[in-house]
Amino acid sequence: MSQRLADYRVFLGEFVRSFHSTGAILPSGRSLARALARHVRQGGGPRRILEVGPGTGAVTRWIIDGLDAGDTLDLVELNESFVRRLQERLASDPLFRAAAERTTIHHKPIEEIGGEGTYDVIVSGLPLNNFAAENVREILGVMTRLLRPGGTMSFFEYVGVRPLRSLVSGAAERKRLRGVSEAIASARRGRAIGRDLVLPNVPPAWVHHLRSPGKAPAQAAG
Ligand SMILES: C[S@@+](CC[C@H](N)C(=O)[O-])C[C@H]1O[C@@H](n2cnc3c(N)ncnc32)[C@H](O)[C@@H]1O
Repeated sequence: MSQRLADYRVFLGEFVRSFHSTGAILPSGRSLARALARHVRQGGGPRRILEVGPGTGAVTRWIIDGLDAGDTLDLVELNESFVRRLQERLASDPLFRAAAERTTIHHKPIEEIGGEGTYDVIVSGLPLNNFAAENVREILGVMTRLLRPGGTMSFFEYVGVRPLRSLVSGAAERKRLRGVSEAIASARRGRAIGRDLVLPNVPPAWVHHLRSPGKAPAQAAG
């Protein structure tokens, strides 16, 4: 079975079993994955890079492709099936294998990761629109705490999902969705450095890019 078919099979299974945390029926498409990995691919290492919610590695693949000499990569994934799939890829997929020695998988939720100012680049594939507003606030709070001053963070949301869901939902769900919007707006305030509209994705998505206030990490010459 090809790598992609294997990924689709695992993803679909987890979508059915764990819809709330998986949040998508298929892995991210190439355009969304590349947009999420944009700041990794801009170079400037050596850097510590964190990917949150790597799933089967659709975005990880582009992160690995953009690693500089000396960069390290931490993957934080709560789902055991996805962790197994990532371990397989690190052992057998040639691109992943080349980065295996500097990649660490943490099988736990991002909420349990301690530390402060640890990472130069954070990339998140979490389905924030599925979570309770206070959980989204907590997760974005953890990620901003983990980001070094001047470091960048990228995360995505599907275009128009909250307004559409609000139209067909009851009061409690509308309140939750408003809370998610407020949590995202609050994380972006004073940190937003741009966003990409990824139309070729199904469904289309926004990728938000944030920079933590403070001195930017030193850039490599050239
Ligand atoms: C929408 S999928 C994205 C997967 C992959 N990044 C992609 O783009 O195809 C969301 C991923 O986040 C993981 N996840 C959800 N909640 C999480 C949490 N609190 N901490 C870590 N991973 C989480 C899920 O298990 C799943 O792998």
